[in-house]
Amino acid sequence: MFSTAFLDLPPLQSAAGTVALPGSKSISNRVLLLSALCEGTTVVHDLLDSDDTRVMLQALRQLGCGVEVQANTVQITGLGGRVQQQAPIAFFMGNAGTAMRPLTAALAVLGGDFTLSGVARMHERPIGDLVDALRLLGCDVDYLGQEGYPPLRIGKPTLQLQAPIRVRGDVSSQFLTALLMALPLVAKDQDITIEVVGELISKPYIDITLNLLARYGIAVRSSGAGAFVIPKGSHYRSPGSIHVEADASSASYFIGLGAITLGAGIRIEGVGAASIQGDIRFVEAAQAMGAVVDQGPNWLHISRGHWPLRAIHGDFNHIPDAAMTLAVMALYADGPSELRNIASWRVKETDRIAAMATELRKLGAEVEEGPDWLRVHPLPADGWKAATIHTYDDHRVAMCFSLAAFNPARVPVRIEDPKCVAKTFPDYFEALFAVAQTAPDAIPVLCVDGPTASGKGTLASQLAAHLGYHFLDSGALYRITAYAALQAGLKLDEAHADAIATLAGRLAIRFDGDKVWLGSEDISEAIRTEQAGMNASAVSALAPVRAALVDLQHSFRKLPGLVADGRDMGTVIFPQATLKVFLTASAACRAQRRYKQLISKGISATLDTLCADLEARDARDTQRAVAPLKPAQDAQLLDNSELTVESSVNLVLDWWQSKQPF
Ligand code: DC
Repeated sequence: MFSTAFLDLPPLQSAAGTVALPGSKSISNRVLLLSALCEGTTVVHDLLDSDDTRVMLQALRQLGCGVEVQANTVQITGLGGRVQQQAPIAFFMGNAGTAMRPLTAALAVLGGDFTLSGVARMHERPIGDLVDALRLLGCDVDYLGQEGYPPLRIGKPTLQLQAPIRVRGDVSSQFLTALLMALPLVAKDQDITIEVVGELISKPYIDITLNLLARYGIAVRSSGAGAFVIPKGSHYRSPGSIHVEADASSASYFIGLGAITLGAGIRIEGVGAASIQGDIRFVEAAQAMGAVVDQGPNWLHISRGHWPLRAIHGDFNHIPDAAMTLAVMALYADGPSELRNIASWRVKETDRIAAMATELRKLGAEVEEGPDWLRVHPLPADGWKAATIHTYDDHRVAMCFSLAAFNPARVPVRIEDPKCVAKTFPDYFEALFAVAQTAPDAIPVLCVDGPTASGKGTLASQLAAHLGYHFLDSGALYRITAYAALQAGLKLDEAHADAIATLAGRLAIRFDGDKVWLGSEDISEAIRTEQAGMNASAVSALAPVRAALVDLQHSFRKLPGLVADGRDMGTVIFPQATLKVFLTASAACRAQRRYKQLISKGISATLDTLCADLEARDARDTQRAVAPLKPAQDAQLLDNSELTVESSVNLVLDWWQSKQPF
């Protein structure tokens, strides 16, 4: 939806409805790798479609696995524990830790000639403890850059499996997960023991690993304090088909939403009490803060209970990702909240302790931080500030700060680089806007009015893309009305005004990208001809028709905002719009543009006739009795005769920015 550098969340009031969440990232990437290591084909249902899973799927293809993707179902035909390699393989891991760590271990154990690299941040994320463990095991792994960090080169191992393999557990549980998934490949002739050195953090992620290994035929034994044994004779067996649960960390934003907003509550589908994900325990933290939670095996229903929320103090080592959501909920609490034992935040997508502290302060909050803790003070109603939240290429920062838009001060929140949510939840903001509600007049509108062929459509649609807003091409509604009227055998004149208006009120219109549908008919081309424009101009002069289209036009004003183009957007339809632009260009210049447009479509035209047509249409649109074309009193005039589209867009974005509180 967005090609935007930022997304402005208008003040939101309440939320209600059902959300279907994408599949869990942790489960998705584990299941993909396990399926690849098996013999035979595994059908994976409800797989998360995200940057991290795409990285993993690409790597599996490079390794020679069969990968067939059909919507959220993926068929993986595994390698059967062997790589048949013809040439060196270079893997690009982006910033996907859930792909990098386990693949490194599996490739190191399988052996070959591989390199693994990623984006700059990936090269700052430690992997030394995993590499140390793999080297002790006899794997051939080298650093290609800085010691202890990717990129890596992997060769053929000389495995020594008798002694226990030791791995640190206090940096990232992904190291242990990686070994647990790689070592069953070589446990044919002896038990393999992995000993965890130091405290094991994020243990729930290990439970996901163990649970999934069991589904793939590997019964790992836990032996005493911090040791895991992969039994002799282990070998991967495909479960045939497997369902990926919805992501419990992603659920945290909607659980938080249910806890802080008034309304009928939020129902979350796809994850619930029977989840194997540790982050499901976020539910307990939300309950402690005051949320009312009902749950079934794979659903949750959350509504507001105690208000303001109760401050929370605790050790959140068991839900490190979801706990970020608590840090934003803490702004709505009745006292300072303290999140402890969250050192792992410092080595995630970004240093999350520093990031959360910095961004919460921008909202006005008092925040204290330590090496492994964060204390967040609540914000009084008059303490909130409109803030621009930097997101550090970290999906979770972007998602959890959206909850700040429900602030009682009714200030908007700007989220930078909103597309970074693609890492785990590409449609996060769409899902949020589908359940969030606010007063219609709180939803920003930018109007672009002007005469025909002034370039309104291009300017308005590009503005909409930049702002991540919806787009209303109101001219299309008149074009469609004229088309439907002619189809129904109605003449486009005063005598038929009421009949056309009745028809206009019932149009089954659907906009789908560049396509326009009327019922089941694709009328995109038919409504774009010169004649269709003249017909639209004729019906648009009929007062009952204009009245019949008002509600439809208002219905486009949806979260997070709207860019509307037409003739009377600023004067009649959205008189309270945040910004109104009246776009003009000389008749000669507009005729030139229309001429080029038509010629490029292979339609013959002459400049003189086009110029005469434009002037006739301008005359009718400006002189008609109802909603004549004219600039709104408070419109900014923009003559773009001498401007490129890009400079017009930038100019209007500057005007827009000058109206914002950020
Ligand atoms: O923008 P367009 O060329 O697609 O518009 C076609 C006709 O529809 C235009 O000549 C006048 C009419 N129109 C209108 O009266 N009010 C609007 N808001 C948009 C278009």
